[in-house]
Formats: sequence, structure tokens, C-alpha cells
Amino acid sequence: MGIKAFSDDFLWGTATASYQIEGSPLADGASPSIWHKFSHIPGKTKNNENGDTACDHYHRYEEDIDNLVKLGVKAYRFSIAWPRIIPEPGTINRKGIDFYKRIIDRLLKHNIEPFITLFHWDTPLWLEKLGGFRKRESVDHFLFYGETLFKEFGDRVKHWISVNEPMVYTISGYVIGDMAPGYKRDLRGLFHAAHHLLLSHSRLADALHGFSKGAVIGIAEAQVWVRPFKSGSERDKRAADLMDKLINRLYMDPVTTGGYPEKLLAKAGRYMPAGFEKDLEGMKNTCDFIGINYYTSQSYRYSLFTPMIHAKEMQTPGCKRSAMWEIYPDGIYNLLKRVKDEYNNIPCYITENGFPLNDKGRSDLLDDAERIEYLKDHIRKVMQAHKEGVNVKGYFLWSLMDNFEWNHGYDMRFGIIRVDFKTLKRSWKKSAYWYQNIIKTGLSG
Ligand code: BGC
Repeated sequence: MGIKAFSDDFLWGTATASYQIEGSPLADGASPSIWHKFSHIPGKTKNNENGDTACDHYHRYEEDIDNLVKLGVKAYRFSIAWPRIIPEPGTINRKGIDFYKRIIDRLLKHNIEPFITLFHWDTPLWLEKLGGFRKRESVDHFLFYGETLFKEFGDRVKHWISVNEPMVYTISGYVIGDMAPGYKRDLRGLFHAAHHLLLSHSRLADALHGFSKGAVIGIAEAQVWVRPFKSGSERDKRAADLMDKLINRLYMDPVTTGGYPEKLLAKAGRYMPAGFEKDLEGMKNTCDFIGINYYTSQSYRYSLFTPMIHAKEMQTPGCKRSAMWEIYPDGIYNLLKRVKDEYNNIPCYITENGFPLNDKGRSDLLDDAERIEYLKDHIRKVMQAHKEGVNVKGYFLWSLMDNFEWNHGYDMRFGIIRVDFKTLKRSWKKSAYWYQNIIKTGLSG
């Protein structure tokens, strides 16, 4: 199957996020984000690493865009750091806007379509101090920030992504506590923040459509393919179904088909903000497209001891694993088919897919054959879904270059371009040459 299995306008791209690559988080009038604060608390990240320098993309963006050009990508997904644009409530920072303007103009000059994520987890610290996303006022602040960007860039940028992975932000940030804002076992926080992030998405969609008729907006959803541990066990099936609702459908349904999964509300409705039902009608069908970030599958078995959900994650027998997760290419296909069958075949993009590798024990740090294997298997599955009528319009590889992998620090590398974090030198890995070739000539076999 060659590249022509996709239509000519299929967008091959790569993805990054502001706090993970930029560095200089306080430069030129920016204020701190919750990740700046979190990563400076000892013990919160691997080796106490932080995004102070990261890839120094803030100063090296020209070189990084040159690499995009060399790769031949048609699109580039990146995020804007909210605290660079709005360093305090109601204040717009020109220098922050200018930084991203330079990036956008340079991409457009090279015919690379910018896909801008408004929020990839670097909440301004001032907003967190006001209660963050657990408070309804966060929606107004997000809207002010979003409208500022639409006014500045709406003439040139046609593809917007409101929120990156509300699931990971709320589950890691409010329940597990291993990511910013770092709260633990706070179910009320989880459901309040989830609702306010999704409500923000819908308000931003209304605002964008008012500004620019041709522009489209979606949300990037972390989607995990969830399976029962024992396929013949009714209790495991129920546990997996509820987990699927908690980690996938809770974040997907309200802004597409409408409403929260009822079975989940029956268990967790008391944690939702009062009067949330009144928002639902306005949230429905507010995605022009869906972004799917896919990395892995998970298996669940029934467990009496897990509160509320009664599900415990188990390792799927026989499933290969990367340094972080299970490897299950069929999952990307299944989730794409689900968009076709259950979400009205809304246009969609794979907004992230990638493979982590750790340097330990590796003799050739530019030889990432395992990554190529993973990508090949997953892209094949995307092609299959496309062939079967799924309206998938592009694929963004995570990530253009090694970067700050949140609480895992710099050890866990996802880039197809290596970054030496001492010298900041960029070097192409085998996967970068491989992807360059896929973009040019397609994938055979
Ligand atoms: C996030 C990225 C992250 C990647 C790999 C996604 O959850 O959007 O920021 O680096 O996965 O863990």
C-alpha cells in the first residue's frame, strides 16, 4: 500500500508543545506557569529536571523550522504558552505575541500549515492561584486568551486545537498528582476541571467561528484502547467499559454527540459542578474535527477494592511494551473506526503518536529502529482505517525532537531528531530519515 492510499491533501506533520521545547519560560515579560512551579519543587520530576532550557527552541526556532522544511512536513502542530501572552489577568504581552508571529510567518513562508494548540498544560500560575480549572471563571479567562490569539493570528492560522488531552491533565493533575497542578485524590477537582475545560472548548469554538469563517477548531483527546483483562469475564467487561467511559468518553462525548456517559454520571455525578446540565446543549457538536493522541492500550479487571470504578489495570498477557506503555497498533485502528461508527465520521487527525526510548544501554544513540517499527505498524493501521472510510485527514508524529517529557524529565526521548541537552545540538535519528521518506514516497508493504 503506497502513500496514495491517502488523498493528496493528507497532512503529514510532527508535533511539539511549548513548555516541553521552548525554554526561557520567563523571558520577555512572560509569567510562570504551573509547570514552572511544579518542576522546581524537589522530587516532582525525574532528576529534578525542569523546562528552564529544554530545547532552547525560544532562541533556536529557525533551526527547528529548517528541520521541518527538510523533513518535508506539510503541517506542524505546536502550542502557545498562555503565560507568555497573558502574563496577568487581562494583560496582553506584545513580546509574547511577536515570538509566535515569527514562528507562524516562517512556517507559512515554507508552506507548512500551522496547527496551533492553545493549551498544552502550561496554565498560568496566576490562574491556578484563582482556583484554576476547578472554578468556572477559568472559562472566561481562557476565552479572553483565545480571542486574543484569534484576533492576532486568525487571518493566517486556519487550524486550532483548544485543549490538549483534558484526560491526562485532570487525572494526573487532580487524582494521581504526578503532574501539575499536582493535587491528589481530588475527584471533585477532576470532574470540575474536566467540565470547565470542555466548556472552554465550546466557547472558543463559538468565538473562532465568529472571527474567521474558514477556520476550524478541534480538541486533542488522549485515547487509550481499553480492554477487559479476561475477555470471557462479564465483571472484567463491565470494569473495562467503565474505565473506557472515564478515560475516553468523558472527554469526547460532551463536545461531539453530546452529554456525559450516563453510567459514569450515576457513579460520579456528585462530583460535577452544580448546574452543569445547563451547559450541555451549547457544548454539543462544537468540534470541527477531533484530534486523537494514541500511544497505547490498557487492560482492566474487576476489583472490589478500587473505589467507585471497581477496575484495576493489569498487564495484557503477551502484549509487547515500550519503555512506558503497551504496544498495540490495532488500538489506533479501533479508535479511528469508533470515530466513524459512533461519532458521525467527523473529520479527524492523529494529533500525536510516537515512541519513547531511553539512552541507557544504547551504543548508537541515533539508531532508533524500534521507533521506526512502532511508527510503521501504527501508520499502516491508520491507512487501513482511511481505506475503510474513516475521515482521517492527517498524522502528526510525536515528536519533532527530544524534549522535556514532563515528570519523566529528559531521559524519556520521543524525538525523531536527537537533542543533546548539554550542547543543544540537533542530530537526525534514523527515524527522521525514514519519516522524510514516508512523506515523500509512501509506505510499502
Ligand atoms: C502529551 C505529550 C507527551 C506525550 C508522551 C501526550 O500525553 O500530549 O505532551 O509528551 O504524550 O508522553
